[in-house]
Amino acid sequence: MASVVIVGVQWGDEGKGKVVDTLAGQAQIVVRFQGGDNAGHTVYHAGEKHVFHLLPSGILRDHVLNLIGGGVVINPGKLVKEIDGVGISPAELPKRLRISAEAHLILPCHIALDANNENQRGESKIGTTLRGIGPAYADRAARVGVRFADMFNEKLLRARLKVCFEAKRGLFSGPQMEEVCNVDRVAGDILALAGRLQPLLGDTGLILEEGRRARKNILFEGAQGTMLDIGAGTYPYVTSSHTVAGAAGVGAGVGPRFLDKIVGVTKAYVTRVGEGPFPTELTDGIGEKLRADGGEYGATTGRPRRCGWLDLVQLRRAVRLNSLDGLIVTKLDVLDSFDKIGLCVAYLCRGKRLTEWPEDPADAEAVRPEYIFMPGWKNPTGKAQSFAGLPAAARKYLRTIEKEAGVPVVMISAGKEREALIVRKSVF
Ligand code: GDP
Ligand code: IMO
Ligand code: MG
Repeated sequence: MASVVIVGVQWGDEGKGKVVDTLAGQAQIVVRFQGGDNAGHTVYHAGEKHVFHLLPSGILRDHVLNLIGGGVVINPGKLVKEIDGVGISPAELPKRLRISAEAHLILPCHIALDANNENQRGESKIGTTLRGIGPAYADRAARVGVRFADMFNEKLLRARLKVCFEAKRGLFSGPQMEEVCNVDRVAGDILALAGRLQPLLGDTGLILEEGRRARKNILFEGAQGTMLDIGAGTYPYVTSSHTVAGAAGVGAGVGPRFLDKIVGVTKAYVTRVGEGPFPTELTDGIGEKLRADGGEYGATTGRPRRCGWLDLVQLRRAVRLNSLDGLIVTKLDVLDSFDKIGLCVAYLCRGKRLTEWPEDPADAEAVRPEYIFMPGWKNPTGKAQSFAGLPAAARKYLRTIEKEAGVPVVMISAGKEREALIVRKSVF
């Protein structure tokens, strides 16, 4: 029995969804603790592709209770559509999905503000997913937000919407204000969904505590990645929540001692969507080959992902920021046909060699990576059933990663299907 946190250790899209769906085979509860429908978690099962934005990636398993914690921001219309997409009967649903009263709602004004803010920034735009994430978290912090439980009390909902919309005066033009800050219309749209969502209301912290007492295996599913953390990430090119493992307890409703193990998911290389520093980005044919072989297009927005070699300086920092017990390396198969594979071991910055992320974040744009190159294996890895079954050069590559990162590689994924996961050490 264990409570295990699964977090992305790069700039998101590390393959968290696939890992959580696979591990959910041995878990009884999966909980999302931050982010919103900016996340796109892809799961392939029985030849079918599913992309989850808000639903935890344990939702395809009928023995698993999925929780959405208070740290999550929810677009209620999107949530209902996603629930419809998985086809669970209304009677069964409350046994499969429960949602914290404390989660905040993403409203039409948040989505409109996200777009306005991006337009205003012009050249220095963040490249957000335009899902209203930043403005929804901003309203939460400003105490003018609307929470999930408010949906089920019309009087309270209207009062909260009024406060939220008053705070938007001056931010929108008259017609836009009328369009997205109309209490009657927005309340009507939310109330139309309330009947379906009310049975899902639940105290996620209490459910988790009871699960722990009943010796259940629990997975905490992170969204985004460490370098997109609102604090530790490449600010301001970040998302608006804490994405590191420290956020898991807070966002799910349990204390830090609840968590037994913390495991980070990293691709065998790096990708990033949106703007901001990316020291090992390759804008040449190698970057293009990584994008083509890895199918690197955003699961939420379809944007091409920027690609580059694995960055050990960044990875070591993520190991420290998350207190990682181990790493899961995904997409190893994408490197199958490369002659040689780069690994960034240090940065060169203003005549100095850095083995840690630059102290002055402004330098993150300016660093040049120093690489070592390892021979490729030029053999398919997708069918390997064990670490020993991988080509020798692939084993050497993974051993170099664990030596440099200072934590063991506990699992390796070399294919998008649920079954393609080599387990060296169980996380439970
Ligand atoms: P997440 O946001 O961390 O869940 O990751 P995404 O779903 O956004 O992106 C990961 C992509 O890689 C998805 O298209 C997955 O289906 C795919 N994927 C995950 N693991 C592997 C793997 O080991 N090999 C390959 N080829 N694809 C993988
Ligand atoms: P998953 O969970 C990759 C990026 C956006 C943008 C920045 C801010 O699938 O790994 P936001 O809409 O959150 O305000 O955008 O964060 N971003 C992600 N990049 N994977 C994600 O989620 C992301 N969620 C947000 O591209 O750069
Ligand atoms: Mg994703």
